[in-house]
Amino acid sequence: MITIVGSGRVGIAAAIHIALKELDDLTLIDIVEGLPQGEALDLQHMCGILDIDIDIRGSNDYKDMEGSDIVIVPAGFIRKADMTRMDLLFKNFDVVKQVSEKIKEYAPKSKVVVVTNPLDPMTYTVYKVTGFERNRVMGFSGPLDTGRFKSLIRRELKVSYKSIDAPITGEHGETMVLLPRLTYICGKPLIELLPREKINQLVEETRKMGAQIIKLKGWSASHSTGAGIAIMVESIVKDKKRVIPTSIYLQGEYGLSDVCLVTPAVIGKDGIEKIIELPLNDEERSALLKSYETVKNAIAQLKF
Ligand code: 2OP
Repeated sequence: MITIVGSGRVGIAAAIHIALKELDDLTLIDIVEGLPQGEALDLQHMCGILDIDIDIRGSNDYKDMEGSDIVIVPAGFIRKADMTRMDLLFKNFDVVKQVSEKIKEYAPKSKVVVVTNPLDPMTYTVYKVTGFERNRVMGFSGPLDTGRFKSLIRRELKVSYKSIDAPITGEHGETMVLLPRLTYICGKPLIELLPREKINQLVEETRKMGAQIIKLKGWSASHSTGAGIAIMVESIVKDKKRVIPTSIYLQGEYGLSDVCLVTPAVIGKDGIEKIIELPLNDEERSALLKSYETVKNAIAQLKF
């Protein structure tokens, strides 16, 4: 069983994509009475129409996550157009801390996919409060940010998404580290295909994309987020061992410790099965250190 804590737009988009992939039965939990139950009914009927044989139920009781193999956590306050993800730090810390305590109590064997912003400090919170091994706590954001970057590369070069390999590291936030030097189009480096200024422009555009979407449609990205979460969950459920950029509790990788940051990792039945440490040059490494300092500073303000 897969549980999603938070029945807002992101939680429901994740539920739709997970259902479409027929990955497992779903439990939707939210504190708002009626909301998860109503969404569950609607989704169950969607499954009926599409011949998807899974069960979906909604609940206001955290106890109903009992027996979950995977718990997805998009619960929390959402960002407004004039906010950074970090502006949500204290409000969402309280939410995620409480949810983590419930996960520890009712789903102690589960793997957790954290989605709430600010993503890296919230992944750290789940890791610390549950006390789970680090391979069982994954922060979701990487496919979203690389997906955005890839959409811009596709627009410029007129090549399929499938032919673009774009890694990412650092914070899911203002200091995210996109890596044009390590981005390849079927073996050809991006830096040989586009001028430096154009690449810088695409990187900047990608960094601002989350806020841009909020500004345009009034709330944060949900379709892309839901699809990305489902890709991560699929890799766990089917033990696909897909390499996915994931926020992870670092223990010496990149020379960094006691912090959660995004790095590519092999995702399989045990969660994070292997961390792929990227070969960063000095410039990329100093960009990663900016992320490190930002997230460390945020974590230092949290009272566990
Ligand atoms: C985004 O980047 C909300 O953090 C999410 O769209």
